[in-house]
Amino acid sequence: MAESMKGWCRSHRCTELSNRNIGETVTVMGWVQKSRNKGGIIFVDLRDRSGIIQIIFEESDAGSENFAKAEHLRSEYVIAVVGKVEARSGAVNESLKTGDIEIRARELRILSEADTPPFPVEENSRTKEELRLKYRYLDLRRPDLQRNLMLRSKVAGISRQFLYEEGFVEVETPVLTKSTPEGARDYLVPSRVHPGNFYALPQSPQLFKQLLMCAGYDRYFQIAKCFRDEDLRADRQPEFTQIDMEMSFVDVDDVIEINERLLKRMFKESIDIDIELPIQKITYAEAMERFGSDKPDIRFGMELKNVSDIVKGCGFGVFTSALEKGGSVRGINAEGQADMPRKRIDALIDFVKDFGAKGLAYLAVNQDGTYKSSFAKFMTEDELVAMVNAMNGKPGDLLFFAADEDDIVFNVLGNLRLELARNLDLLNKDEYKFIWVTEFPLFEYSEEEKRFVAKHHPFTMPMEEDIHLMDTDPGKVRAKAYDIVLNGTELGGGSVRIHQSDIQEKMFEVLGFTKEEAYERFGFLLNAFKYGVPPHAGLAYGFDRLIMLIAKEDNIRDVIAFPKVKDASCLMTEAPGEVDAKQLDELGIRCQTP
Ligand code: AMO
Ligand code: AMP
Repeated sequence: MAESMKGWCRSHRCTELSNRNIGETVTVMGWVQKSRNKGGIIFVDLRDRSGIIQIIFEESDAGSENFAKAEHLRSEYVIAVVGKVEARSGAVNESLKTGDIEIRARELRILSEADTPPFPVEENSRTKEELRLKYRYLDLRRPDLQRNLMLRSKVAGISRQFLYEEGFVEVETPVLTKSTPEGARDYLVPSRVHPGNFYALPQSPQLFKQLLMCAGYDRYFQIAKCFRDEDLRADRQPEFTQIDMEMSFVDVDDVIEINERLLKRMFKESIDIDIELPIQKITYAEAMERFGSDKPDIRFGMELKNVSDIVKGCGFGVFTSALEKGGSVRGINAEGQADMPRKRIDALIDFVKDFGAKGLAYLAVNQDGTYKSSFAKFMTEDELVAMVNAMNGKPGDLLFFAADEDDIVFNVLGNLRLELARNLDLLNKDEYKFIWVTEFPLFEYSEEEKRFVAKHHPFTMPMEEDIHLMDTDPGKVRAKAYDIVLNGTELGGGSVRIHQSDIQEKMFEVLGFTKEEAYERFGFLLNAFKYGVPPHAGLAYGFDRLIMLIAKEDNIRDVIAFPKVKDASCLMTEAPGEVDAKQLDELGIRCQTP
């Protein structure tokens, strides 16, 4: 039977107690981690969010009634105990913060009994994730998840504090709104009052924060929920959180400067990591050339090298035909891997096919100077030597080459580079390597839609020196857009926005929107700009991703209280679910049976 806590007041969380409290009478409350009856003496590990303390029950201290109650304790019972703090009677438990003390119980109340949980509540659970997510409320009791969520709260607090100090105003923007321009699929909410009409949940607060700049708020921020109906991956959720900000009368460097100080503060105050400022910057073009990626992991080298000039007259058709079609031949050097077994090389060749490779050429430089290679027989000795030199190859190295259009070569080698780093254990989670990637292309060509689409979003400012190319060669126009990348993950991104109507009109023209279409979607923003708009720029962090990296987790679900799984469902609430016919009627919705 559950008792009340009437008249009792908790004096400490479990691990707030230490040997300084020896001799004090205290009141603690929490969950029974485990209980052991050694005949005449009962040991209970009591757990709260701070950690664990040992409680010891003996009939001589607690009396027969309390002792009898203690005999019934089972895991996950919620209890309250009054007792005296003592030095540990048995051996000190080094693995517990409170391992040198215990509480000798005088009184016990059972506040709630508990059924046997479907899995043990313990650190580093080996229970299948599906089961843990179904019983997320139990999973959330585990110390690893509790630490992650408390870290998350702490980083949110640090960020808020920093942004307040820097003069940012926190404003909430609507969740029931119209489609925003981030380019993923929208989640829609049907309107009862306007049958056949739908709200869209925001993919980001982008348009609203720009309107707040128009309204003169100067510096805005929000820790905002965003919704995107896209395929989920380890670092993506359909609803996620951004630390979103916007500033007036600033340019790229101002946004970067303030965010570097924010990052420094976050990492110092949350996990005591010192980030050296300034964070290095690299242009998008250089990132692709050197790392084959716009979010380079710079914890290791293995940079791409262009060998097109060396192989342009060679006898290997795979290389020459790629060059004739305007492509390139590039390689990476897996140092010291010349002895990689054929089977593993074949596995890598298979791996890169998922990234568009038609094949992968390799050249192992043996210790005796001979080669083991898929293409050496087509090359002259001079060409081979020049290739090896271009790759900084030494005896013992294994070189990989891809020949194709640039986009494919970058994608293939960028991903091969990461795969090799994973296989060779080059990725150290204790290292935090930040890099800004700047000067992104303004547009990218969509083969599917046969038109240019905005790479960031349609309100991103082109670089002034490239504006003239918008008419003639849109693919070459660089944007005042930047991403902050940490260990190969895109943590955040932003841009300077267009505030001049002629550039905005040109932008829509390239994107293939008529003026009417542009006004239909974004009219409220375009109209607002007619009434006086300051130059403005901003950035948003993926807050869940940020916490994932700070907490050294591999999956974003481990830093979100109630996450969704791959098919965007919630295993605990079973959302999404069917609704009553009456609700659908009210909304004027009829479902097609699938
Ligand atoms: P962007 O679309 O680049 O920019 O998003 C900003 C950051 O949000 C994170 N993110 C996600 N995190 C988890 N799950 C997802 N599905 C997901 N999608 C994005 C990423 C990304 O870097 N309005 C602009 C920002 C601006 O221009 O100021 C925007 O939303 O870490
Ligand atoms: P093939 O002529 O298709 O038999 O290929 C000969 C060798 O070149 C094999 O080792 C292939 O893996 C490799 N190869 C094929 N296509 C490419 C490519 N686009 N880039 C690099 N190597 C390739």
